[in-house]
Amino acid sequence: MDIISTKEILLDAKRNKYAVPAFNIHNLETIQAVLEGATELKSPVIIATTPGTVNYAGLEYLVSILKAGAKKTNIPVALHLDHCSDEDFIKKCINAGYKSVMIDASMESFERNIHITRRIVEFAHKQRVTVEAELGRVGGQEDNRIIDDKDALLTDPNMALEFADKTAIDSLAVAIGTAHGVYKLEPKLDFDRLERINEIIDIPLVLHGASGVGDGDIIEVVKNGICKVNIATEIKISFAEEIKRYFNQNPTANDPRDYLTPAKSAAKKVVMDKIRICGSENRV
Ligand code: 13P
Ligand code: ZN
Repeated sequence: MDIISTKEILLDAKRNKYAVPAFNIHNLETIQAVLEGATELKSPVIIATTPGTVNYAGLEYLVSILKAGAKKTNIPVALHLDHCSDEDFIKKCINAGYKSVMIDASMESFERNIHITRRIVEFAHKQRVTVEAELGRVGGQEDNRIIDDKDALLTDPNMALEFADKTAIDSLAVAIGTAHGVYKLEPKLDFDRLERINEIIDIPLVLHGASGVGDGDIIEVVKNGICKVNIATEIKISFAEEIKRYFNQNPTANDPRDYLTPAKSAAKKVVMDKIRICGSENRV
């Protein structure tokens, strides 16, 4: 198959009350881990790259690898640009083949967030590209942006309704108590807030900062309208831990194929676990 947008993937998830995980990848091995894990479990999947990853790996390389990977499998594969606040960067990625983007103007005022998001939606929809945006502010660190706990802001349900209506976005990232990165304390999610948002908003909702959120909490948010679950940190940790373990046991090793193969398997295990928890297994 070709790379597709998140439109059909997320609408089917919403209709059937499951979520599709979006995995942030950083290199060939993590892309393969995601595609192999999702293919084995017959799950649609979203591959996400932050602007930092695009700059690291190269836009053309990423799009080419994803196109090749999507062709080799029969599951729906979306390529998504995660947390981008630079409008020109978004347009560049769309022109290069991305079919799904997140415009993140959540640091701006409510009015400016609407204005900027609307502008990207107009550009993207002309090319059948789906747009996610964020209202409220998810704390923690993603790429090189750090949101302190004191600056994190939970999503207001009524403002979210106005935001979704005025911007015509395809999916909404909500702030309900999760944060990016490793949790210092167990996260306490505001399920009532999510329920209220889900009651009044029609479009699929997105959970950011899902690494470290308990399986029971993921299952609960999926019942309440979360259709996309973003996982970055757990993939990074599993990959890095396995490389550390390999070099501890094989200090003179130097062949990337030797130390990256177990790292890829560890990342694939995380991928498969998250697919099962989100309920997207056997949906293809
Ligand atoms: P984690 O790094 O906490 O998994 O968050 C992922 C995310 O929200 C990517 O946008
Ligand atoms: Zn995020």
